[in-house]
Amino acid sequence: MDENWVSHFLSHPDMEPNRTGHAKLPAGPPTWGGRDAPDAVRAAHRDSLGLGWLYYGLTRALEPRVVLSIGSGRGFVPILLAKAQRDRDAPAITFVDPSFDDDFWTDAEQVRTWFKSFGVEEHIVHHLMTTEQFAATEACAQLPPIDLLFIDGGHFYEAVETDFRLMSPRLAPGGTIIFHDTVSRSANPKWSGPRRLLLEIEERHPQWQLLDLPFGAGVTIMRERAPESLPAYFQGLHEQWPDLDSTAF
Ligand SMILES: C[S@@+](CC[C@H](N)C(=O)[O-])C[C@H]1O[C@@H](n2cnc3c(N)ncnc32)[C@H](O)[C@@H]1O
Repeated sequence: MDENWVSHFLSHPDMEPNRTGHAKLPAGPPTWGGRDAPDAVRAAHRDSLGLGWLYYGLTRALEPRVVLSIGSGRGFVPILLAKAQRDRDAPAITFVDPSFDDDFWTDAEQVRTWFKSFGVEEHIVHHLMTTEQFAATEACAQLPPIDLLFIDGGHFYEAVETDFRLMSPRLAPGGTIIFHDTVSRSANPKWSGPRRLLLEIEERHPQWQLLDLPFGAGVTIMRERAPESLPAYFQGLHEQWPDLDSTAF
């Protein structure tokens, strides 16, 4: 990713990483992921993509074919995911957002112009609808298994639970999910839906591996445990390598 592109991206006031909880500031109180941080601290984070590096880098590293991004205020996440796909000549990502917070995503022509200003208009297909509505479309039925799923839609429990319930079964084997806002920037428990869901998953569905990154509004990366991470892996090795005293590599 060239530096000019990054500075152009960050020059948009809407793309300030701290604005939507993507700056690498400590999540939670007392500064609520940077929302209540002093101006000097915020300024220090103004010129870095912050967690955006992770979204871009993970997409480059994992080389997903199918990427689904759910929810975004101004496109911070889907634009970076699309940029990663564009930079490696990979297919467009799918972006689902019903524009519930304001009318930003409602005009298809304006949405295209917005994406075009970042050079990613050919690498994002936007669906102006909720995840639930999208799940019932032909476009969703035609979508191959998802390699990378980014969940940043409604943050009340019911909404995020719906996103996970409808889309996690559509994940490709070894697919990755990234949740945003896993440490709410509000003290109101209503906004802690993602965290509530993750606690439930950890308790009831041990096949999922979770990594919390408590910065900004909190990011959690999740993936099903691979056979290599299970004790059975050692059994297989012992069968292939009977001389357990040997130190040969
Ligand atoms: C608050 S924003 C995400 C904030 C954020 N962290 C960012 O990067 O902009 C949440 C977005 O999710 C969308 N949304 C809300 N409910 C949704 C749903 N059921 N399905 C998909 N998107 C949804 C809203 O329209 C809004 O644009």
